[in-house]
Amino acid sequence: SANNPWTGFQIFLSPYYANEVAAAAKQITDPTLSSKAASVANIPTFTWLDSVAKIPDLGTYLASASALGKSTGTKQLVQIVIYDLPDRNCAAKASNGEFSIANNGQANYENYIDQIVAQIQQFPDVRVVAVIEPDSLANLVTNLNVQKCANAKTTYLASVNYALTNLAKVGVYMYMDAGHAGWLGWPANLSPAAQLFTQVWQNAGKSPFIKGLATNVANYNALQAASPDPITQGNPNYDEIHYINALAPLLQQAGWDATFIVDQGRSGVQNIRQQWGDWCNIKGAGFGTRPTTNTGSQFIDSIVWVKPGGESDGTSNSSSPRYDSTCSLPDAAQPAPEAGTWFQAYFQTLVSAANPPL
Ligand SMILES: *[C@@H]1O[C@H](CO)[C@@H](O)[C@H](O)[C@H]1NC(C)=O
Repeated sequence: SANNPWTGFQIFLSPYYANEVAAAAKQITDPTLSSKAASVANIPTFTWLDSVAKIPDLGTYLASASALGKSTGTKQLVQIVIYDLPDRNCAAKASNGEFSIANNGQANYENYIDQIVAQIQQFPDVRVVAVIEPDSLANLVTNLNVQKCANAKTTYLASVNYALTNLAKVGVYMYMDAGHAGWLGWPANLSPAAQLFTQVWQNAGKSPFIKGLATNVANYNALQAASPDPITQGNPNYDEIHYINALAPLLQQAGWDATFIVDQGRSGVQNIRQQWGDWCNIKGAGFGTRPTTNTGSQFIDSIVWVKPGGESDGTSNSSSPRYDSTCSLPDAAQPAPEAGTWFQAYFQTLVSAANPPL
């Protein structure tokens, strides 16, 4: 559609991920598997700005994307994840962030957003698409019984509002993270989720740059499951398309014609989890459907790979301060390194189990 932010643009490949993948492919001795692994470097993922220290990389990528756009005549699109809320990941431990609410977190977060805005406004020829704060608003829908989430509510809302309003000013197309079918897709959660997302959209001035919602970020659900995974029993919205088809009309009723993006980066293999809530380095996962705007759904702007496959979801080391016991469950691949760091054995499984094959 004319309103699809990807239309007319080529996605700029993250040099960081391309380097990780190239190094990983070199370590694989089987030449067939190694060349399949190397090909993953050409599949676009998102760059996670999960600390202030990563922001200069964004400036470098934007400059490269701008130069590439000028030299090739094909305009470039950079994909980022805004992910540095104070008291981040309030209901789990593996992805705790650098800012705390008790220690100037909201002001630090605003400074983080200001620095990102300052980079982006230097390159108006480069389009930027952003996923806004994975897990944050979904935690406010279902996890206010967790003390850290209840404490964070006001700060999360003010900080997300700051991100949305300031990134809109420099033309960033945004999708707020909306969990996944097994979280907000449960029938009892749909209305509260729709109410919260539309309220956040309204409070941010209903900017047309706030396109909609991102689902299944870093998760394993199929967009369209061949049949319901038994762990989804009791939820009619057993895959992402059912979830989106249930949520979109509720947003429309509130006046928001929101569209969606869906992460399918690690959704190639289904029925591999023991419980739907398991999220950490799930054993047997394979790379999934390639990013495309040919989504088959009026509600979905693009299938995307938000999570860079091969980077760990969390450590299985129980002595680590960021240890989350989810990462030691029987369906979690182990031993797993710290969240965000490279997990070579896991990457190799993603490659060999890719569906469609690489
Ligand atoms: C586990 O974490 C502890 C604490 O950070 C560290 O000292 C130890 O070396 C780690 N063990 C492994 C096997 O990485």
